[in-house]
Formats: sequence, C-alpha cells, structure tokens
Amino acid sequence: MFDIKSLFVGSKKLVGLDIGSRAIKMAEVLDTPKGYLLNRFSQISLPTGVIVDGMLVEYDVLTDTIKNLFKQAKFKPKHVVTSLSGQSVIVKRVNIPTMEESEVRDMIHDEASKYLPFDNMDDVDFDFQILGENEYNPNQMDALIVAVKKDYIEPFVDAIENAGVSVAIMDVDSFAIENMYEVNYDPEENDLDVLINIGASITNINVVKNGAPIFLRDFSLGGNVVTEAIQEKFGVSFEEAEKMKEEGTGGDETAEREFRESLLSFAEVICLEIERSVDYFRSTSGGENIKQILLSGGGAKIPGLATDLTQRLNIDTDIIDPFRKLEYNRKNMDESYIENMGPAVAVGIGLALRRVGDK
Ligand SMILES: Nc1ncnc2c1ncn2[C@@H]1O[C@H](COP(=O)(O)OP(=O)(O)OP(=O)(O)O)[C@@H](O)[C@H]1O
Ligand SMILES: [Mg+2]
Repeated sequence: MFDIKSLFVGSKKLVGLDIGSRAIKMAEVLDTPKGYLLNRFSQISLPTGVIVDGMLVEYDVLTDTIKNLFKQAKFKPKHVVTSLSGQSVIVKRVNIPTMEESEVRDMIHDEASKYLPFDNMDDVDFDFQILGENEYNPNQMDALIVAVKKDYIEPFVDAIENAGVSVAIMDVDSFAIENMYEVNYDPEENDLDVLINIGASITNINVVKNGAPIFLRDFSLGGNVVTEAIQEKFGVSFEEAEKMKEEGTGGDETAEREFRESLLSFAEVICLEIERSVDYFRSTSGGENIKQILLSGGGAKIPGLATDLTQRLNIDTDIIDPFRKLEYNRKNMDESYIENMGPAVAVGIGLALRRVGDK
C-alpha cells in the first residue's frame, strides 16, 4: 500500500523481505492454479544493536546480513517488498473532503498539519488509500495516510539496495499481517478482529473491519523484554537467553515446566500494554464487539500467552495460522520446520502476497 517509489517493475515476481530487529525473513509466494504457495522461506538472525527502536543504526551490518541471507537461501531476488513499523511510521485513518483521487496527494501535501504531525511535507514520504465514502457524511471520504520522515526510511532502502536488490514497494508491518489474514481467514462483513504482531522489540496492533484498519497502534515492547528477564535471572548472555527461550533450559521436567511458566510472567508488561490498547479501543469505539484476537510474530510463541489474553480481555485469542489457505512447498520445507517458524512468518508472507500496482 505504501509505494514509496511508485515503481513499475514490469514483473509480478516480488519477494517479501521482512527486516525485523531480531531476524530478517525472506518469503516467496507463487500464485498457482491451486492457490497461493509459499515456495521459499529463509531467515537469518540479525545481531543486536543493528536496528534499535525501529531505527537503523548499523547500516553496513544490515547490508551484509541481507547478502548472507541470499547466500544461505541460494536465491537472490531482483525486486523486494519490504516494510517498516514502529512509532516513526505514522498511520492514520482520516476523513477528507470528497474529491478526485488525483487531487488527494496535493491536498495532503498542502494541508499536512491538519492530518499529520508534520508541518513541512518536503522531507516526508507519504502515501494514501481511499477507503470509500464516510458513513456519516456523504461529502467526506475515509482515507488511510501513511507517512514517514525521509531520513528514517532512506537508510533502510539504501542498505537493502546495497545488497543488490531493488525495493519495489515499502509496506507497513501491520498492513502485511492484514494482507496475510485476508487471504487466510475470509472475514465476514462487520467482523471485528484484532491482529497483534509481537516481534522482538515492537508490537503492532491493528483492529480490522471490512477489509481496512479502524484502529492502529505500535508500541516499543516485544520478546526482548522476556529475553532480558531470562538474562538477569540466569546470569546468561542475550544469545544464550534467546536459545533457552527457543530450546528450554535442558533441566529436568519440573525445572523445564517452571521455566516455561516463568516466560509468561516475564511477558507481563507486553500483556498489560495489549490490554490497555484493547480497552482504549473498546472505550472509544462505542462498544463494538470484537470477534477474536489473532497473534503473530515470534513473541506469540511465549507459552500460554494466547490463553492469558483470552482470560484478561474475555476475547477468544489464537495464534494466527498463515497456512489456513496457503500451501507451502513440501519439497523445500517440512511440517516441523513450518511449525517451528509458526507465527514468525506472518509479515514475510503478507509482504510476498503483494503485487505491483496493489494498493
Ligand atoms: N519458541 C519461542 N518462545 C518464545 N519466544 C520466542 C520463541 N521463538 C522466538 N521467540 C521470540 O520472538 C522474537 C522474534 O520474533 P520476530 O522474528 O517476529 O521479531 P522481529 O521481526 O525480528 O522483531 P521486530 O519486528 O520487533 O523488529 C524474539 O524475541 C524471540 O526470542
Ligand atoms: Mg517483525
């Protein structure tokens, strides 16, 4: 949706590149007569400190890690779709006066301060999508605006392109998840679902209804808080703590169970922030009924998290299943690999589903 370059690449083959602060994931989805097929998926971890609070700090390390990912996957795409998230990315649903689509861009540019926290749009990249006529006022349209400072976005694009690929579309993590969800879940009219992507350092919340976001919020908390708590409790390094999270402590059954249980208590701050956001949405939306919460991101793998949220919020909560309608290439990937990756593939798949010209 956020097509910074408005670039027509002349090919429908776009590969999703999800640049997370913990891991970079690459996904290729093919459009086959039998439906969508995840043809390739590969992931590589990124050292800590390369992306901090959504900002690119170690530019060259990102380029080198992307190159290593291509080497590891034995595959280098020409054009990629990638995404941003975090508090530097402004996503707003606004009402604008009814006008031709061709006039909207200039209007937003000239009247930016009405809609966005920027006065001067010259150093801001932005895009918009018209969602349709406003429900209450026929002279107004609902639109989504995405805006981000150029000095934030450009280092990412340059670092990716230095790895030898072109960035065809710049998307937003929340929209990528939504895209993946639309393909897999076929929501019914007026269904209200909350999509929550818990990464390592950022959590994205997107409440969707009738194919569009109605409430979006990102906050700077994710699985890292759990890793840091493990580090402190066991006196281990960050990498060792990450390993324990994924593989356990190697202790006896009781120790293992206690460790698993402690992960959820370490994640308390994330759950509280999710609870606050959902409560805020509920209090400002006139009590609309939420159907379900769907969790994605590696952070969704914290044992017991979905059950905990179900109880806190009294809303059915599940881990999202990117393979409900999507097949994966069983020659390259087996079931245990896919299961292990689980919800962490969601953004990459959502990106890989983009086609040039999509909005
Ligand atoms: N089995 C597991 N149990 C608990 N947490 C896990 C597990 N596997 C991975 N994680 C956590 O998931 C997080 C990584 O998720 P993800 O790959 O979605 O993050 P990211 O996209 O790199 O980060 P971000 O989007 O926040 O920049 C890490 O905090 C990692 O420790
Ligand atoms: Mg992520």
